Amino acid sequence: MKRNLGPVNALYPSLTTIVGAVVDDKPNFLAVAHVGIMNHGQPQYLSFGINKAHHSNRGIHEHKEFSVCIPGEDLVAQTDYVGLVSGRNTDKSKVFELFSGELAHAPLIRECPVCMECRLARVVDFESHDVFIGEIVATHVEESVLRDDGKIDIARIRPLLFDMASVKYWSLGAEVAACWSVGKGLKGA
Ligand SMILES: Cc1cc2nc3c(=O)[nH]c(=O)nc-3n(C[C@H](O)[C@H](O)[C@H](O)COP(=O)(O)O)c2cc1C
Repeated sequence: MKRNLGPVNALYPSLTTIVGAVVDDKPNFLAVAHVGIMNHGQPQYLSFGINKAHHSNRGIHEHKEFSVCIPGEDLVAQTDYVGLVSGRNTDKSKVFELFSGELAHAPLIRECPVCMECRLARVVDFESHDVFIGEIVATHVEESVLRDDGKIDIARIRPLLFDMASVKYWSLGAEVAACWSVGKGLKGA
C-alpha cells in the first residue's frame, strides 16, 4: 500500500555538478544538483535552477557564460564546500585548479573529469529561482574516463548522486540493461 506524502519532490537521486561563473572578475563555484537536460541533439541545451540569493547568478547574468563540471567521488569535500559557503563573503576561486576553454567567462575545473562550457541561451525568472538555460559550446573530458569508442564511461567518472531525503551523496550502482533494447521483448505482447 502506498502512502501519500503530499507534494514532495521525489525526483532523486540527481547528478551533483559544480557550476562556475565569473563574478566581479573572479571565478566562483557552487554545487548544483538540480540540473536538467532540455533536449537531445544539436544544439544541446542544459538547464538548472538556482536561488536568486546566490552570488553566482550575477556573473551569469552579466557575462552570459558559465561552466558545468562533474566531480568524481574524490572531490566530495570540495564539492560540498562550494555548496556550503557563498562567494559573497568567501573567495572560492582557489578551491580548484582551473583551466580555460573557448569562453572567457566559463571557468573550468582541472580536477573534474568532465567540464562543459555553456553560453546562456535563456533565463526563466521563476519565483525565488533563476532557471538558466545554456547551450553547450564545448565539453572537455579526461582521457582516463573515455571508452575505446571515444564516449564517456560514467562508471569511471564515479559521479556523486545527490539525495534530498537522506541529505547524502550516493555512488552510482551497476548497469542494469541496454536502453531502447531490453523492452523490445514486450512489443506486441
Ligand atoms: C549538493 C548540493 C547541491 C546544491 N544544489 C543547488 C541547486 O540545485 N540550486 C541552488 O540554488 N542551490 C544549490 N545548492 C546550494 C548552493 O550551492 C550554495 O548555496 C552555494 O553556497 C551558493 O554559492 P554562491 O553564493 O557563491 O553562488 C546546493 C548545495 C549542495 C551542497
